Amino acid sequence: MSDTYNAFVVDEIEDQFKSSIKSLPLPELQDGFVLIDVLYSSLNYKDALSASGNKGVTKSYPFTPGIDAVGKIRQSKDNNLKEGDEVIVTGYDLGMNTNGGFGEIIHVPSGWVVPLPNNLSMEEAISFGTAGITAAASVDAVLSKIDAPELPVAVSGATGGVGSIAVGLLSKLGIDVTAITGKENSSQFLKNLGAKNIILRDDFSSEKIRPLDKTKFSAGVDTVGGEILSRIISQVDRHGVITCCGNVNSIKLETTVFPFILRGIALQGIDSAESPISYKKYLWDKIASEWQIGYSKSSIKIIKLNELAPEIDKILNGNQQGRVVVKHGE
Ligand SMILES: NC(=O)c1ccc[n+]([C@@H]2O[C@H](COP(=O)([O-])OP(=O)(O)OC[C@H]3O[C@@H](n4cnc5c(N)ncnc54)[C@H](OP(=O)(O)O)[C@@H]3O)[C@@H](O)[C@H]2O)c1
Repeated sequence: MSDTYNAFVVDEIEDQFKSSIKSLPLPELQDGFVLIDVLYSSLNYKDALSASGNKGVTKSYPFTPGIDAVGKIRQSKDNNLKEGDEVIVTGYDLGMNTNGGFGEIIHVPSGWVVPLPNNLSMEEAISFGTAGITAAASVDAVLSKIDAPELPVAVSGATGGVGSIAVGLLSKLGIDVTAITGKENSSQFLKNLGAKNIILRDDFSSEKIRPLDKTKFSAGVDTVGGEILSRIISQVDRHGVITCCGNVNSIKLETTVFPFILRGIALQGIDSAESPISYKKYLWDKIASEWQIGYSKSSIKIIKLNELAPEIDKILNGNQQGRVVVKHGE
């Protein structure tokens, strides 16, 4: 076994952030930790922030991003996890300030590890990754409030990682989805995922936001924040719920109390990275059983480590569609 591994490393050189593939020494296994041979990682928006020097995500460089990793345990200092176990790690500090899945090896606390569920291949698991469990947590929050939505559920950022999986999951559950997208040529992609209606972001944003607009949705899964979230809030029907997980549109949210006090709607924040490991296991079991959407077949692009840089630029510019999976070792 080699005592080095390859990783996509971001260096900070005179306020510029530059990436390259480097050979790194194996970390030494600590008590309560595992060393994992990462076979797959995937690209999430947060990875692009880390790779481009966002100090709110990653404080110091050189650093290897990658908030998702799926692979096999190489060495373990936890009695419940043994060499060869197939596992998933998403979130917590992975890819933020703990070297992440863009390296062929990760060294993480055993408490971050979810065993790969039966009925889910490693490739299927990584096609979900953090985007998938964020979408699943959002869908779970919608279903916990509304059994059978009478109006469609709105999904914003619909072609993105979280959005596209949310469209697929809700559609799989027989719920009508209205996909809100900025991409004019994405209709077929969104219809293939099951979206019933598609609204272009510019059309959705064309009129003034009213405190209480005509109700068009029973619920909303918002992945972008800003004025898109404000509009969804004003258009959700009585006792509906809107989930909020992202900020690619804006970190700001303007609204009034009226949707809350006159329609009884709920705004549910989603923080998948720091969710308790028991909740992550619950979501992965759902994804491996009744929420299986065969997503990996239609909407993932598989790349090698040395093909990451342009994909990072694409996600930063809001142009990514579906999921990008990194396959190590080829
Ligand atoms: N809270 C959590 O637990 C959690 C977990 C994962 C991700 N996130 C956050 O969720 C967001 C989405 O993550 P992701 O990995 O799915 O990213 P992504 O793949 O880049 O998807 C984001 C999508 O948002 C849309 N979009 C891009 N720029 C926009 C703009 N200026 N205004 C409105 N919409 C825009 C685009 O879809 P369309 O072209 O289809 O509109 C884009 O594909 C990010 O903010 C990420 O940090 C949060």
